[in-house]
Amino acid sequence: MHEGYRLLHQSVILMTQLISIWGKGGVGKSSCAAAIAYSLAVNNYSVILVTTDYVPTISKIFGARERCMTQINDIPSLYIFEVTPNEVVRMWKETFGEEVYRVISSILPVGREILDYIAGAPGLGDEFMLYIIYQKFSENEADYIVWDLPAAGDALRLLYLEKQFYEHLNDAARLYLRLKGFLSKLKRKKAPSPLELINKWRELANYIFKMLSSNEHKAILISTPEPLSIEVSKRIISDLEIFGINLSAIIVNMVLSKNLILKDVFSEKIKLQEKIIRNLKEIAANKKLMYLEVPYLTTDLSTYKNLNEFCKEIQPLIEFLMMKTKTRLK
Ligand SMILES: Nc1ncnc2c1ncn2[C@@H]1O[C@H](COP(=O)(O)OP(=O)(O)OP(=O)(O)O)[C@@H](O)[C@H]1O
Ligand SMILES: [Mg+2]
Repeated sequence: MHEGYRLLHQSVILMTQLISIWGKGGVGKSSCAAAIAYSLAVNNYSVILVTTDYVPTISKIFGARERCMTQINDIPSLYIFEVTPNEVVRMWKETFGEEVYRVISSILPVGREILDYIAGAPGLGDEFMLYIIYQKFSENEADYIVWDLPAAGDALRLLYLEKQFYEHLNDAARLYLRLKGFLSKLKRKKAPSPLELINKWRELANYIFKMLSSNEHKAILISTPEPLSIEVSKRIISDLEIFGINLSAIIVNMVLSKNLILKDVFSEKIKLQEKIIRNLKEIAANKKLMYLEVPYLTTDLSTYKNLNEFCKEIQPLIEFLMMKTKTRLK
């Protein structure tokens, strides 16, 4: 990470701030994540933009050729981290493969190919991305990690999977203790106790929840002023509350302007949007959240060079995020 930038801000920023972007599919999460990361980076903060979305939107926006931890040329304090499912499996094997293999092979006569089966288990790749975010968060090198999440269903599934994982580890520990005598007879060679591994993973899952519910994590909800989007948004708000995750702001994206040239054609749509906007404003006011509207923009947002307009619209949010960081010293 850039020493110059780190030194510049070291006296101000004590801990990496995690900003996560939630919302229904297609509402503008990646555009907003890119705009937040870009705005913070041009303010000289070091930023890692991480995505658990397997479709390479972010690397496209920033014109990155590689997809793994790429530094963006024109913005040296911005790194993007976007990986394919295959890379996630490879990284999981590299990180946890050996210890898992040592424990399993101490009990069962299995070859290393068992790791491919385990690494391919549903949800494991997503959970591993959570671990990567936790790792980058605890390294405390970047000023900000901006986390561009997949569509609501998949993003929430991630939280529930992590919870299940934690609960299963509790069950696994209990089961192991019950079967300990029997398993120790089966043990083929000197190997670490499965309990050590179980406890290590349980601790890790616990730390991940602590990170998500800490004051250093700010969740931002993106909604469009559409009936389905507000329904999904309400569900996200309640699920985030269940997990004790701080929601900081609601951004209503793609708002149609009343000054639209084709306003007569869109009059019904504008009326519907106004009704939903009132509802979203009310939710934000009741929960004391920052509220922002971003108009439907006519510029091409598929490259960061055109993101300026989006950045201008979310400037109050950027100031809020930077202010929150600075006030921690007082
Ligand atoms: N304010 C806006 N005005 C016009 N177009 C927008 C706006 N915000 C985003 N878009 C466009 O909407 C499309 C979807 O945006 P984006 O990919 O950011 O959504 P997403 O929520 O990340 O989608 P997914 O759930 O598939 O990851 C993109 O083509 C993007 O350029
Ligand atoms: Mg996206």
